Amino acid sequence: MAVDKQEFRRVLGHFAAGVTVVTTVGDDGAPYGLTATAFTSVSLEPPLVLVCVDKKSESHPHFHSSRVFAVNFLAVDQEHFSRRFAVSGGDKFSDVEVRYGATGAPVLPDVLGHLECRTTDIHEGGDHTIFIGRVEAADAREGEPLLYFRGAYRQIT
Ligand SMILES: Cc1cc2nc3c(=O)[nH]c(=O)nc-3n(C[C@H](O)[C@H](O)[C@H](O)COP(=O)(O)O)c2cc1C
Repeated sequence: MAVDKQEFRRVLGHFAAGVTVVTTVGDDGAPYGLTATAFTSVSLEPPLVLVCVDKKSESHPHFHSSRVFAVNFLAVDQEHFSRRFAVSGGDKFSDVEVRYGATGAPVLPDVLGHLECRTTDIHEGGDHTIFIGRVEAADAREGEPLLYFRGAYRQIT
């Protein structure tokens, strides 16, 4: 029996997730990115992770063409980044001091952790595309994560 779409969303909302902003770079050199919770580690050796990007998102074609991305783990005081990057289109990077690292994908300032990846595989995933990337650089700092659970931002208490 098929699961109703609304019910599927409601149940998925019960899975507590860390919040990331996944970024890439366009052919024009401009930065692109979106808020994403559909991120997971895949393999330790080689170091692989995946992100699932909605085919309808503005950023989607740039992930395809650049074949690089960075995953930025948001800290508890970075909800503003999550809200900004969850709005489609526009210049989300104005007044954000990004750093262009190992792959050319932008890294946001003061994030809890980040991974810089080169895309190795691209898979169909229904209305999303699954981008698997090999991690070329990574770093993390002390701090608390921003979480998303049942449609609201949360923190570890
Ligand atoms: C908490 C949260 C998690 C999200 N997770 C994802 C995700 O994993 N993949 C995705 O494609 N969109 C996700 N979105 C939606 C995108 O952030 C949103 O569609 C964004 O506007 C896309 O930007 P763009 O069209 O400029 O690329 C999420 C949004 C929120 C608020």
